[in-house]
Amino acid sequence: MSAITAASATAASATDTRSPLPVLGRDVLVPLVTGGEVTYAALDYAASAPALQRVWDDVAAYAPYYGSVHRGAGYLSQLSTDLFENSRKDVAAFLGCRPDDQVVFTRSTTDSLNLLAAVLPHGTRVFVFETEHHASLLPWQQREGVEVGFLSAPRSPREAVETLDRALSAWRAEGPAEGGSAGPALVCVTGASNVTGELWPVRELTEVAHAHGARIVLDAAQLAPHHPVDIAASDVDWVAFSGHKLYAPFGAGVLAGRADWLREARPYLAGGGASRKVAVRVREGVGGVDVEWHTTEARHEAGSPNVIGAYAIASACKALTEAGFEGLVARERELIARVREGLTEVPEVRVLSLFGEDAPRVGVISFVVEGWNSSHFAAALSAEYGIGVRDGLFCAHPLVRTLLGGEPGDQGECGAPEAAPGERSLNAIRVSFGAGTPDEHVERFIGAVKELVRDGAKWTYRTEDGRCVPDRG
Ligand SMILES: Cc1ncc(COP(=O)(O)O)c(C=O)c1O
Repeated sequence: MSAITAASATAASATDTRSPLPVLGRDVLVPLVTGGEVTYAALDYAASAPALQRVWDDVAAYAPYYGSVHRGAGYLSQLSTDLFENSRKDVAAFLGCRPDDQVVFTRSTTDSLNLLAAVLPHGTRVFVFETEHHASLLPWQQREGVEVGFLSAPRSPREAVETLDRALSAWRAEGPAEGGSAGPALVCVTGASNVTGELWPVRELTEVAHAHGARIVLDAAQLAPHHPVDIAASDVDWVAFSGHKLYAPFGAGVLAGRADWLREARPYLAGGGASRKVAVRVREGVGGVDVEWHTTEARHEAGSPNVIGAYAIASACKALTEAGFEGLVARERELIARVREGLTEVPEVRVLSLFGEDAPRVGVISFVVEGWNSSHFAAALSAEYGIGVRDGLFCAHPLVRTLLGGEPGDQGECGAPEAAPGERSLNAIRVSFGAGTPDEHVERFIGAVKELVRDGAKWTYRTEDGRCVPDRG
């Protein structure tokens, strides 16, 4: 990590007036393998976005007042408790929650979806497209008493809706479960793909789900940073997202939505904070504990809550709302158009898409370059141009397999394949951006792609610990 220690970092600058929301790290210098330094071009927002300057400032202003939440009698404890509970209200407002919805603070989207999986009523049937991120694909089958129906990759939003409709019709036709109905069902769907950036037809899928008596959870990890999410208007039952993708990297996430399954299930974690009343009883030498659990969000937030994480998310929600999604979306559309136009000018580049060229999307674009191993390409973008993108299968192996039209590289979760530079591409490169991305980053990226394809890498690279790195001899 000598590259990082050698880099000189300064605070954020807001020099690019076209970026509606300044982020931290815009003046960080990173070394180039070819010599010299360049400001880092963070184009991996889909993995983790830089912190908003506003979020950082809010957290810094609160830090001296930090105190224990929910338990302390002191002034700062009370202040922190208010801040934590007000953060919940701010997130509820940002998501357009219904009056009875709960907003549970979790660690991340993955944690939120695992929490929802844990509270599903026994016998629930879950429907999920195989194209989902692993966080939406995998939690359900961990639950005993829950069956999962995997839906095949649709090639258009319309096909997605039809596929779900067919699957839910078949489920209902299976006949009544105990109690006379088909039993509970849940559909889990992403709002925007973390691989293609394409928007999924959430409203239509919700209508279909509800028409069949199923509920729906929206994985908004990639949607919430780019588009408004309105629970009440879209009528989804739950929404999950992560702070670190929403410019608030302080280790918190959110599950928001219907209270009933959350209230009725066993607490996600057993412990302090989740329990209202606890008494140990011993009868004839046999012991047990009687517990009265909270029925509010606290039921699933046992332990000391991440007050700074929650506050950071609330701060980001307010900053995005105040900046206005209309302007953010318009600005992002310009960047998307510029990147796609630049990539189109390189015949060796193939952009990955499930729904086709015209599908509406957020600033997440994956591609492969003919004749290049994607890890090699990404390593050269970093080492020779100071551009941070991502390579791999993006924790969506089945989707990337579909898009690459064959078996991807043999690799672990989120890692890079064991492939030497120059071999056939077994994985993809992803460029992603958002609020705070200056034009220069996008222009540098397009210039770098063109130059690498035309002239090749200036340096040699080797595979080390499964990653492609510059060979420093
Ligand atoms: C669509 C989608 N869902 C879920 C996740 C998981 O988010 P986290 O790693 O913050 O739990 C990601 C992360 O990349 C994602 O892109």
